[in-house]
Amino acid sequence: MARLTEIGWEDFAGLSLEAKKPYLEREEGDGLPYHTLFAQQFDRSCLERLCALANRIRFINKSKEGALYLKNVLAHKRAMLYFSQPSSRTFLSHLAACQILGITTGSVRDAATSSEFKGESREDSIRTFSSYFDMIIMRSPVQGLAEKMAWELSNSSRPVPILNAGSGKDQHPTQALLDIYTLVRSFEEKGGIDGRTVTFCGDLMRGRTVRSLSYLLTNFKNVRQIFVAPPDLQVPADVVMILAKKGVDFEVTDDLKAAVKTSDAVYMTRIQDEWDSSKGESAKIDTSRFKFGAEELALLRPDGVIMHPLPRRDEIATCCDHDPRAMYWRQMRNGMWIRAALIASTFGFERSIMECGY
Ligand code: CP
Repeated sequence: MARLTEIGWEDFAGLSLEAKKPYLEREEGDGLPYHTLFAQQFDRSCLERLCALANRIRFINKSKEGALYLKNVLAHKRAMLYFSQPSSRTFLSHLAACQILGITTGSVRDAATSSEFKGESREDSIRTFSSYFDMIIMRSPVQGLAEKMAWELSNSSRPVPILNAGSGKDQHPTQALLDIYTLVRSFEEKGGIDGRTVTFCGDLMRGRTVRSLSYLLTNFKNVRQIFVAPPDLQVPADVVMILAKKGVDFEVTDDLKAAVKTSDAVYMTRIQDEWDSSKGESAKIDTSRFKFGAEELALLRPDGVIMHPLPRRDEIATCCDHDPRAMYWRQMRNGMWIRAALIASTFGFERSIMECGY
């Protein structure tokens, strides 16, 4: 078993994501992550186990007795939610997931209210949280910070797991987990995810959810991926390279209507102008053909689904909201269940929850 205590930071940072995976697993060697940093940590077996655990938690939580059982599972643990970038869903669904499992939480949502305002580094802040909490759930604009801190804390006197809730423009692994869980639930009585066509549309260059979900979909058989975006916002070369290397059938296009006609799932994304290098840069891009409205809805197959990591602006028209194929509201709630499953498994409670009598 590979351990982060047995490899220096420079050597670890230089590994491929696949090679990093074993260093981030639970010591019990059950294949599930201890630190959750990127989508490459999840193979199909992991995904199936987490979705099964999320289903189980969702079912147990329906009864008062079951909910009280769950509230006791991790009542001895504390989690820190360190979100130095804005968030509604990721913050609240992690908070709710902790509450379901009985975990006590603390939070910093604005670094200016912490001692970072006095010049403390992010690294020292996170090290400080590890003194008081048993898990750190973090969102940061700094690419790679979650990974660096996973290594730092594993090599500290008080190792605690890091859960990456969004890092830079790079990865958003728990969003991809909830997206997979949503696809699993959407197609569970219709043959599953294998063989499906998934279209991504919008700002694919800077949408970290796209990179993570595109990778997770490669765990399934014969899933075709279509990327629809203006040229300046098309899917980045590293994602294309991974898909090509894995022999995935994919297409890069600017024709949303044609893609919708052949898709089982359409994953819309917002223009991520918070990453603009100069103010107003994104506003110059014509995005009018990359929006989902009544015309696209009419083209979508009857059992297709529309997804969005949210928040949205106008890339999905509100006239779609009450259509049974609009999955984005359920997708958001699925985040709470899959994050509860991930947190429970991080602390080694997968089996006891799966086998409990509720
Ligand atoms: N999908 C997502 O990350 O939403 P928030 O930014 O609201 O957390």
